[in-house]
Amino acid sequence: MPSIEAINLSKRYGSFYALSNLSIKIEGSKCVGYLGPNGAGKTTTLKLFTDMIRPSEGKAIINGMSVHENKKKALEHCGALIESPEIYPSFTPREALSMVAEIRGVPHSEIYKRIDEVLAEVKMVEWADKRVGKFSKGMKQRINIAAALLSEPNVVLLDEPTLGLDPRGMTEVRDIVKSLKKQNRLILMSSHLLNEISEICDEVALIDHGKLIIYDTIENVIAKFSGNGGVELAEVILSRPIDDSQLKIVSSLSSVVSTEEVNSTHLNIKFNSDRENQERLLFDLVSMRIGVISFRLSSSALEETYLRVIKDTV
Ligand SMILES: Nc1ncnc2c1ncn2[C@@H]1O[C@H](COP(=O)(O)OP(=O)(O)O)[C@@H](O)[C@H]1O
Ligand SMILES: [Mg+2]
Repeated sequence: MPSIEAINLSKRYGSFYALSNLSIKIEGSKCVGYLGPNGAGKTTTLKLFTDMIRPSEGKAIINGMSVHENKKKALEHCGALIESPEIYPSFTPREALSMVAEIRGVPHSEIYKRIDEVLAEVKMVEWADKRVGKFSKGMKQRINIAAALLSEPNVVLLDEPTLGLDPRGMTEVRDIVKSLKKQNRLILMSSHLLNEISEICDEVALIDHGKLIIYDTIENVIAKFSGNGGVELAEVILSRPIDDSQLKIVSSLSSVVSTEEVNSTHLNIKFNSDRENQERLLFDLVSMRIGVISFRLSSSALEETYLRVIKDTV
């Protein structure tokens, strides 16, 4: 099972801690978001995990091996994209990836097969022999992700892979990261964008000022920080218009604080947030047979949680 672990991991510059005493263990096939505002210590952490910088204290461990004491073995099954490199504009993806494969020590007999596989993973097969110079930033970033996949890693570290991309490029790269989730692969993706993490990831580790604040599933993080008596907003989409009497019943469900009809097939329901209430509410809505096709916590509620957490840790 893929795993990454930090034990009391710190990085100090002079007296300033860029990362302070990080202890975390992430294990299994999933996508974990490493969320924090600019300067929180995300890149520092990922550089420590790839031995690009050395820790002041503590250890970084990948697949059970210390990356500082046993770098080659520890990083053998780890692919990383940190500080996206520029690809030579006159290269084709195939040429650029052969060079990387060569450097990484991918066996010669496997290079061509691997390149085809990783190009397929980032959906760039038809661009394999075109010059990178003409590519959009999003396409170049997909080639960078492909490069990180060349050594068949079961641990993939991506540092803000959508940073600096236009909205279309961001969507492209997010879709690719989502599609990278598979059996026996652990993905850790950093971002300062909460909506991005909540869209792509199963779990979130939140850091600020070099300190880990919480590591849990997205739902638990919201529940925990919205606290008892907190109110959460659920966006509910229906397959057919709701009528007034049904709407009245929804408003009267226990735990519902208020119901707003955005339009006849889209309701915003505020409810007293905890997981039991959430389960009950969804169950009640489905039982009403009003055609619920989507129920999700609004990311604006998440956003509020994120901002509050970060404000409190200053
Ligand atoms: N080489 C360095 N020397 C001094 N300070 C650094 C160095 N690298 C990073 N920092 C500082 O450490 C903090 C964390 O940086 P970083 O890990 O890059 O944050 P993030 O990636 O979350 O935006 C920032 O305040 C940054 O200025
Ligand atoms: Mg960074």
